[in-house]
Amino acid sequence: MKRLIQDPLPYSYDALEPVISKSIMQLHHDKHEAAYVNKANEAIEKLEKSRAGELEIDVKAIMRDFSFNYNGAVLHKLFWANMRTAKDNNQPDEQLRALIEENFLSVKAFENEFSAAAVGVEGSGWAVLWKDMDNNLSIGQLEKHNLLALNGNIPILVLDVWEHAYYLDYLNDRASYVTKWWQVVNWEDVNKRVWK
Ligand SMILES: [Fe+2]
Repeated sequence: MKRLIQDPLPYSYDALEPVISKSIMQLHHDKHEAAYVNKANEAIEKLEKSRAGELEIDVKAIMRDFSFNYNGAVLHKLFWANMRTAKDNNQPDEQLRALIEENFLSVKAFENEFSAAAVGVEGSGWAVLWKDMDNNLSIGQLEKHNLLALNGNIPILVLDVWEHAYYLDYLNDRASYVTKWWQVVNWEDVNKRVWK
């Protein structure tokens, strides 16, 4: 497997203010995401050395490390793409709206369920909008980066509710962070992901 490469943010560090501060984005991208990428790459390197007979490894431990860090890296890449500077009338387009209504009754009901999933994650994790192989949508929680995943599904909208994602701005008020986060959702990005 190729090494993971961390991309720069697709916008400036302060682009999501006042919903998410520049300080959080700097730490989150440059320290937290970078660590997941580096640690996933360390696991890949150990597996390569093991294949070449250069290193004895605890396969189970390395694969656990790889699952955690690889999923952490992938989710952060998606999270950055799912956001943009706040703008008025920030809504899914008509096609996505129809699909959301088909799956969740209404956009409001969808947002309520997704927010409740985010607020209710036990410990550190994510709220996720998944699409399955038939383009059915569902909402789920991920604990850490990789537990409770729905196999065969692709995440198309994710919200990071690890404390590192909001504590500097919101302290322990995860619910306020989740409520304000909807202002910076990049619906154009989500819409693209549903249909590709
Ligand atoms: Fe994070």
